[in-house]
Amino acid sequence: MMKVGILTSGGDCQSLNAAMYGMVRGLYQNAKDKIEIYGIKEGYTGLIEGKYEKMKETDFEHILKQGGTILGSSRQPFKKINDVYKNGKTKIQCMIENYKKMELNCLVVLGGNGSHKTANLLREKGLNIITLPKTIDNDIYGTDMTFGFSSAIDRATEYMDNLKSTAVSHNRVFIVEVMGNKTGWLTLNAGIATGADVILIPEIPYDVKKVKEHINKKLRENRKGILVAVAEGILTLEESKLSKKDFKEKRAREEISDSAQNLEKQLRGQIEFEVRMSVIGHIQRGGNPSAYDRILASRLGVEGAELILKKQFGYMVAIQDGKIKKCPLQDVAGRKKIINTEDEILRQAEMLGICLGR
Ligand code: F6P
Repeated sequence: MMKVGILTSGGDCQSLNAAMYGMVRGLYQNAKDKIEIYGIKEGYTGLIEGKYEKMKETDFEHILKQGGTILGSSRQPFKKINDVYKNGKTKIQCMIENYKKMELNCLVVLGGNGSHKTANLLREKGLNIITLPKTIDNDIYGTDMTFGFSSAIDRATEYMDNLKSTAVSHNRVFIVEVMGNKTGWLTLNAGIATGADVILIPEIPYDVKKVKEHINKKLRENRKGILVAVAEGILTLEESKLSKKDFKEKRAREEISDSAQNLEKQLRGQIEFEVRMSVIGHIQRGGNPSAYDRILASRLGVEGAELILKKQFGYMVAIQDGKIKKCPLQDVAGRKKIINTEDEILRQAEMLGICLGR
């Protein structure tokens, strides 16, 4: 009998369930009587605390299109993974102990960057690990795309499309803040999809003067309803030179909590029309996955099942150049995929007349 534990870790995203559906289906279709699946509750927290349940094949039957995660999720920051949790044991020790207590042959982790660091540490400690790359941020090294990303682009695009129509009616400038943590993949793609006039991403610290000039030029050309898509992690040129501590202090002093709010303040009185801001927030992660995400997650999941059946552990299942590949966990952990400032998509965005703040 092969015992497989599954957990979903970190911020949720669309198609976590689809990935589990793909994985479980791949396992049962090909080794029905030799597989036992254990659903570990609320991410690594469940593994630390020993919260899990034996799952049935039918538990995964109709979840392909369902948002969220049927197992629940939580954040267990990697930097605290060696903190003492209970009875003098660290969190990582508790995880290993529970893995052994459950007599697992493999642990499947659906997670983002932080979760991959923990997964790799568990691998180094001798556990059999397979991971699947999830996040709306698309910032996991080793895969061209993460699942959740496509659905979040659709969600952010729809939101901005809706803002655009009211922006046009009122001749307003709308600053829209998109998620993405420290990377601009989501903002850039949703911004292009919605025909934004300005797109600001963390990889390119922005020059406020350039943004202002671009908007005023568009307004002089009679452009109606300007849309400025900004990633939550953007920095001005000046801010990009500050240490993390100084940056935090500056934002606290200025009572600024959002990047969009910061830009709105900088543009106030500098633009001929009214400037408004809006933060999209967690709806980007919620609801049913896009068809693309369902397919990608199913493919990654089923390929993960194949690796488990072949007893090939220590890999993240990735998509590279349209093909599903296995990527060693040690190559993924601790690295982030950011947008290269020379990337062709940035040049193409600029050729479309979009200002990137540079
Ligand atoms: O990593 C996904 C993500 O949605 C980021 O884009 C965002 O910065 C973060 O999670 C928000 O996390 P939380 O839901 O814990 O506030």
